[in-house]
Amino acid sequence: MKLIKSGKDCEVYDNGNTIIKKYKFIRHSILDPSWLLYYDDFNSKYNILPEIYEMNIKDGIHTCVMEKIEGSLLQELVLQAMSKQNQEYSEVMHYIKKCHDLIGNFLEYNIELSKQGKIMFHEDLNLTNIIVTESGDFKAIDIDSVRLNPIRKFSSISLYGTLITQFHNHCIHLE
Ligand SMILES: Nc1ncnc2c1ncn2[C@@H]1O[C@H](COP(=O)(O)OP(=O)(O)O)[C@@H](O)[C@H]1O
Ligand SMILES: [Mg+2]
Repeated sequence: MKLIKSGKDCEVYDNGNTIIKKYKFIRHSILDPSWLLYYDDFNSKYNILPEIYEMNIKDGIHTCVMEKIEGSLLQELVLQAMSKQNQEYSEVMHYIKKCHDLIGNFLEYNIELSKQGKIMFHEDLNLTNIIVTESGDFKAIDIDSVRLNPIRKFSSISLYGTLITQFHNHCIHLE
């Protein structure tokens, strides 16, 4: 088992076919059994998140075992495209469009979910939390950032703006 990231909140391990995330603090949201039910329901429709194989708490440490998504981080792909001599604008446009599609899946799901007074969203969609697979599919990782909240007026939708801002920042930075 290889440690790939150690942050203040969690450690992430690569275990071959699976990714294991160990939380230093208990994440109440993902411990809620209804969170997992909605997560699985959402993913069975859209297949844009890692499958969750196991959630447990051992010795006070909360562990999640999930599908390992093979591919490249979107950040690497965007930086590569933007640093080519004739900047690959169409490639970047394609990435932006695919990100909108990814976000669109949450928005579409929420049309029905909001009738139950709930909303599901990924609160940390950014270029380092999206993996592009070999076949070009976009998958969101960092599963504990998937929130299931009671809906409030204007809640969460504005969070998706940050992803678009990142594209903008990369473009400016590399010009
Ligand atoms: N399901 C996954 N499949 C493949 N790589 C993953 C997966 N989950 C996490 N990773 C890798 O681990 C890194 C950190 O994981 P992440 O869940 O985003 O943690 P953090 O909350 O610290 O950002 C990611 O940038 C990615 O490289
Ligand atoms: Mg992350």
